[in-house]
Amino acid sequence: MQTDTARRHAPATQRNREPILTVLQRVLPAEGLLLEIASGTGEHAAFMAPRLSPGLMWQPSDARADALSDIDGHARAENCSRVLPAIVLDVCGVAWPIGAAAAIFCCNMIHIAPWAAAESLFAGAARVLPRAAPLILYGPFKRHGAHTAPSNQAFDAGLQAQDSRWGVRCLDTQVVPLAERSGFALDEVAAMPANNLIAIFHRRAPV
Ligand SMILES: C[S@@+](CC[C@H](N)C(=O)[O-])C[C@H]1O[C@@H](n2cnc3c(N)ncnc32)[C@H](O)[C@@H]1O
Repeated sequence: MQTDTARRHAPATQRNREPILTVLQRVLPAEGLLLEIASGTGEHAAFMAPRLSPGLMWQPSDARADALSDIDGHARAENCSRVLPAIVLDVCGVAWPIGAAAAIFCCNMIHIAPWAAAESLFAGAARVLPRAAPLILYGPFKRHGAHTAPSNQAFDAGLQAQDSRWGVRCLDTQVVPLAERSGFALDEVAAMPANNLIAIFHRRAPV
């Protein structure tokens, strides 16, 4: 993360924003509220919202209250009329401040948080999304229990050295089973820059 006098920048967003946007343009509904979890600097919102359907409003959020001014600042700098003011949303909080959304996008959070955050993300998404709505997850993942690249393995070791509760999650043995228990089905997995993946889930009909 870099900081200039005005607001923080996450250089990786410059590299991954176009490939992510291409997926979002294909899988997001044409209208409604897109809830972004863990917006960080807010650069994804500021770049992508103007390039999505005009019927979609982008709601950025983060657990950290001190992230909100950066997120709002990036949206203002790009004159984003379809990015709402950022809100504090900790996925592990007892109640989310948003009761309903048409889609959820969460980029680079579940490995930089305890596993309880992934559990809370899916539980909260199950409460706010209607049937068939997409939940889009981006980040580094293991596949079938194994790292997909040496760089991800080194990154994982670094994460765990910072906090033993953090770490690169396995899409097949951890995330998809959690999603299924929470009422979501996996539709698609696509390769992204720097050995990251994007995984598209949809909310199944409640049983
Ligand atoms: C690596 S940053 C990713 C930011 C942005 N999505 C990106 O890809 O550049 C991880 C973000 O997750 C947020 N975060 C961590 N735990 C969270 C939680 N429990 N609920 C919501 N956000 C959380 C952090 O505050 C941080 O902004």
